[in-house]
Amino acid sequence: MEHYQINNSGDERAFLVGVDVWSSRPLLSLEDSLRELSLLATTAGMVVVGQTTQHMQRIDPNTFIGSGKVEEVRDALDDMGAKVVIFDDELSPRHQRELEKVLGDDVRVLDRSALILDIFAQHARTREGALQVELAQYEYRLPRLTRQWTHLARQAGGGAARGGAAGVGLRGPGETQLEVDRRDIRRRIAKLKDELQRVRQHRSQHRQQRSRAGVPVVALVGYTNAGKSTLLKALTGDDIYIADQLFATLDPLSRRVDMPNGRHVVVTDTVGFIQKLPTTLIAAFRATLEEIIEADVLLHVVDTSHPNVLQQIETVEDTLAEIDVPPIPRILVWNKMDLWGDRPLPVYAGSSDYSAEVATSAREMIGVAQLLSVIETTLDECAVRVKLLLPYQRGDLISSLHESVTVESQEHTEDGVLLTVQLPPFLVERFKQYRV
Ligand code: GTP
Repeated sequence: MEHYQINNSGDERAFLVGVDVWSSRPLLSLEDSLRELSLLATTAGMVVVGQTTQHMQRIDPNTFIGSGKVEEVRDALDDMGAKVVIFDDELSPRHQRELEKVLGDDVRVLDRSALILDIFAQHARTREGALQVELAQYEYRLPRLTRQWTHLARQAGGGAARGGAAGVGLRGPGETQLEVDRRDIRRRIAKLKDELQRVRQHRSQHRQQRSRAGVPVVALVGYTNAGKSTLLKALTGDDIYIADQLFATLDPLSRRVDMPNGRHVVVTDTVGFIQKLPTTLIAAFRATLEEIIEADVLLHVVDTSHPNVLQQIETVEDTLAEIDVPPIPRILVWNKMDLWGDRPLPVYAGSSDYSAEVATSAREMIGVAQLLSVIETTLDECAVRVKLLLPYQRGDLISSLHESVTVESQEHTEDGVLLTVQLPPFLVERFKQYRV
């Protein structure tokens, strides 16, 4: 288990390994993917001292890379005084074991998934975020436990030590230590799932209250570091934590934004995406990502100045599809225009899936007013005109309608207040009992 505890002291020297498999067609080139991996390693607090690549017909079933390459990596680690080797692709438990055997006990073998999980663990700030990451980490570790990882009880830091459930380690008759460790982890996973469910119930109550009030929700999505948090700050004027780091925002952060037409919306910032996001992580974050699924409009924020901007857009699209996001109206936000200048915008092949495109610089506050008006138009365009009859006792609903949607007319009748309003589709459903 200690093998996954990444030392974040900033002096851990890491060596990177990337492979290019003949038959696969990855989104990013090998070099670009390794550049991204290097950024991830730095974000996790390591110093990257070197890297190597291999073009292969197929992955070696034992050591992932070929045996000659393993030798080369071992020599490079020795020469550079590096004790960590990070593979750009997810290693199977078998690859992990074999590589550890060949590279020796003092070398830690990590992969992109372990690294991303570690960064998430460092950045989770809410209880739900922390629980989700811990769950993902255990699910990732469970099949990777080997004998040499000894006792969970001895591990330094990390979720199990904090949680206390694992590490009890009392051996039943005929059970090996490894079996005890696995059982402890399974127990811990079950406990985490229970706890998560409780936290989520609490959060979904909050969400229901908000949506009952009829406030439209705008969700920010995008590749990590695209500028989502900065844009949220630009839209609200609030002092939100911004770091030039990958995955600085993990937990959904919602803020009220006043629109030019006097109404308001709630804008939610969510976790950033990246290529090869570990599947255990997507599964663990599914509930958080529901903020996206239930939004009325999605703002897909992109870093226009990034050399791989089109591949990043594609990655975000793929991840949205993976979490089954319904066809919510989408606005493409070409951010960081201050770095792009007045060159023509890149052309994204799937642009027609977007109802609008806006160019912004969240940092320089350029294009923000235009973005607000595009959000207004988008909300209005999908709105449906309906007549509602609300009882006088529901003054709360009447005033929230005035705050969040266009009220075309209002008339006081014997049976209640008769309103003609433009409702976004999600509210049509919610107000259906009052329709006339
Ligand atoms: P994650 O939390 O990783 O998902 O990132 P994010 O999309 O929330 O990005 P964030 O707002 O944290 O910004 C990442 C970096 O880009 C920070 O250093 C920002 O200052 C910078 N940035 C954001 N918007 C702009 C912009 O319009 N222009 C420039 N030059 N930099 C920007």
